[in-house]
Amino acid sequence: MPTDPRGLRGDAPLLDAWLRFHEQPPAPFTIPGHKQRTDLVGDVVAGDVPLYAGLDTMKLSTGVLARAEARAAQLWGADYCRFSTGGATHANQAVALALAGDGDEVVVSRTLHRSLLLGLVLAGLTPVWVRPEVDAATGLPLGVAPDTVRRALRAHPRARAVLVGDPSYVGTVGDVAGLAAAAHEHGVPLVVDAAWAAHFGFHPDLPPHALQLGADVMVTSAHKTLPAWSQAALILARTGRLDQARLEAGVEATATTSPAGAVLASTDAARALLERDGRELLGGAIIAVRAARDRLCDVPGLVVLDGAGVDPLKLTVLLPGTGADGNAIERDLLAARLPVESADRDVIVAVATMADTAASLDALVGALIDAIARHRGAPRPVAPATAYTVDPVVAMAPRQAFFAGREAVPLARAVGRTSAELIAPYPPGIPVLAPGEQVTAGTVAALHHARAAGVRIAYAADPTLATVTVTVTVTVG
Ligand SMILES: Cc1ncc(COP(=O)(O)O)c(C=O)c1O
Repeated sequence: MPTDPRGLRGDAPLLDAWLRFHEQPPAPFTIPGHKQRTDLVGDVVAGDVPLYAGLDTMKLSTGVLARAEARAAQLWGADYCRFSTGGATHANQAVALALAGDGDEVVVSRTLHRSLLLGLVLAGLTPVWVRPEVDAATGLPLGVAPDTVRRALRAHPRARAVLVGDPSYVGTVGDVAGLAAAAHEHGVPLVVDAAWAAHFGFHPDLPPHALQLGADVMVTSAHKTLPAWSQAALILARTGRLDQARLEAGVEATATTSPAGAVLASTDAARALLERDGRELLGGAIIAVRAARDRLCDVPGLVVLDGAGVDPLKLTVLLPGTGADGNAIERDLLAARLPVESADRDVIVAVATMADTAASLDALVGALIDAIARHRGAPRPVAPATAYTVDPVVAMAPRQAFFAGREAVPLARAVGRTSAELIAPYPPGIPVLAPGEQVTAGTVAALHHARAAGVRIAYAADPTLATVTVTVTVTVG
């Protein structure tokens, strides 16, 4: 029977409901079809309790989810919180539906995650792209500069919101307070996709979280940096500049009607843990990652991302100066059962969380140092990752392109045509080509470059990149 080793249930209504379900198991005539039996397909369904007729009654008469969400809202200083079992992907799309629609413009960072881009398609929003600064020394993205957003808002005075992703996938942190000021001067909300920053704001050595810095909406993946189940995410908002009813409608419209109670209960438990022990647990992890960074800094040629503008728990290293290929290093790490979040030829990204210890980081760093030594070669120049440098040429709105007639054409012959699909090297899942954008020589080169660097080409109809799906203009008569 599941237990509560850290005694969190008193402050975590959904966790308490999940534990009670196991303490007094019902004989359900409801879904899910496994009926809590683990003798049919095994432990793969263990702990799977639905919200409806599980953590709460089918009529949601106890309001246990709302109580848990209210606690999270209070912790993050929000006036609105919803838990999601569909990841930050669902959360981003729900927010997009809440902002505006039908051709309305929004200012969006071009390094957005593809989930938000599909949110633009769902809502019919027209992006006004802004680019983050790219650090010349590392080729990695910094934040979007507030003045870049100001210029975009001046040029597009009818824009209804500003959306950025911060921190970046590699852990760089932008000027969210400056972005909030820029958006608010224009009277529009700032939405921050903080998928990687559920831990921000809970230790003095971590950056404040987006709401503390003035953002109106913050989306975050509890499963990424907190000890929560995969797919657990939160939408947190201060709704003064947003229509709360519309945000709620967006959340419900895109959510499953059968949310996994274990995912929700783990979000609640992670929130309770963060509130009670976050400072202590995060402090331990920050010290361990600091020690890891210091060891890696001694490796000749290796650049370790560090400093005030970097998430202390994201361990991002750049390999060009070592001559080693990150794909070969990843193979060694996988053989040692030490998978990392991302590895391509030049960059390796490892995520540390409050679940890590000095021992877990020691093991990773030891294996990484050994692998770099094994694969060391002639240093090569830093080449910025393609997703951060591509200059989009917008031919039609993402939604129009998504629903347009389409055909597959050889990539080399597609230059000048309008892409009907989204193609993103993954990780980080930032589109090089989005629906409605023109295929240019630059995008073709960027996609080939990503593939040659060993990055998986995701979401493309043809991941080999032999062909690309473009729109077809139908002439009638
Ligand atoms: C910036 C960003 N936003 C959103 C997402 C989607 O998150 P989830 O996997 O929780 O749906 C990701 C996933 O990697 C991401 O990197």
